[in-house]
Amino acid sequence: MNELLRVENLTTWLSTGAGIVTAVDDVSFTVAAGRTLALVGESGSGKSMTCSSILRLLPGNGHVGGGRVLFEGEDLLTKTPAEMQAIRGRKIGMIVQDPMTSLNPLFDIEDQVGEMFKYHLGDRTAAVRRPKVVEALGRVRIPAADKRLGSYPHEFSGGMRQRVAIALNIACTPKLLIADEPTTALDVTVQQQILGLLRDIQRETGMAIILVTHDLHTVARFCDEVAIMYAGRIVEQGPVAEIFARPAHPYTEGLLRALPSLGTGAERLPLISGQPPSPSSLPPGCRFEPRCPRATEHCRQDYPAWFGTDDLRRRSACWYADEVVG
Ligand SMILES: Nc1ncnc2c1ncn2[C@@H]1O[C@H](COP(=O)(O)OP(=O)(O)O)[C@@H](O)[C@H]1O
Ligand SMILES: [Mg+2]
Repeated sequence: MNELLRVENLTTWLSTGAGIVTAVDDVSFTVAAGRTLALVGESGSGKSMTCSSILRLLPGNGHVGGGRVLFEGEDLLTKTPAEMQAIRGRKIGMIVQDPMTSLNPLFDIEDQVGEMFKYHLGDRTAAVRRPKVVEALGRVRIPAADKRLGSYPHEFSGGMRQRVAIALNIACTPKLLIADEPTTALDVTVQQQILGLLRDIQRETGMAIILVTHDLHTVARFCDEVAIMYAGRIVEQGPVAEIFARPAHPYTEGLLRALPSLGTGAERLPLISGQPPSPSSLPPGCRFEPRCPRATEHCRQDYPAWFGTDDLRRRSACWYADEVVG
């Protein structure tokens, strides 16, 4: 498979009131062209920080402490700020829950989408940019796009605004789109439309997607690979079909067992009793141990070794992985 992104041992620190915490801890995964990787985990598990680390868009108190982010074979962590700016929006797009993060309320849609062509492709005149803007808006299925060019973000509904944010981020046909809970704020029907749209664009362009989601139904329906995060670390990863059929980590097993039947569209992770640990006071052994029905003394003392393949294809971090089968 054509590997586009390889994240190796990514570790990201944040300085907080409680001292320095490790928000992303030794995270590794790969994403191939044309494929979708789901990043799943409870709130605070480090999904957004993983995405921000890849794009080097961490908050001021954040710092990548180690690892590599190989995109088309080149480590993004060694790029200059100017080089990163040329990559963001051109080779890697990013959309988040709130489309206004991508959009500026003060400019009309033509200006904002057109800016991508101007900045990244050097299209200097509005006359050159306009047909490209109309085409980009058409790709996200904005009806009568040529009549909406002068509209401002507030004139669109939430779902349409997210489409505009997607248009802007895919305008230059990036190789990778990072979508951090892009549908969480939208109602269920619109969620499905947006996810379907992303899949259509992926089929048309072959872009890879990293999709952060709380919804395991979405993972089942839209994603090829999944990485399940817990307290800053990936605890299990691999092909969606294999992991859903035979989870090899009690956390995954719990998520799947608690999953209501397909089709409810609930954008929530099923409840597992207890809370994840605070990043400033992690248990010494397995981080899931305090909530794990299978935990033993071994789990309390030592963080589990990886069980599975060496090449990141399929693995889980549980001492009893070979016994855990959903
Ligand atoms: N700006 C920030 N300053 C300090 N801590 C943060 C900040 N943003 C997130 N965190 C902490 O970093 C950890 C990972 O957060 P995040 O990646 O946003 O989780 P997720 O996206 O999985 O919900 C959490 O413990 C969270 O509280
Ligand atoms: Mg998040």
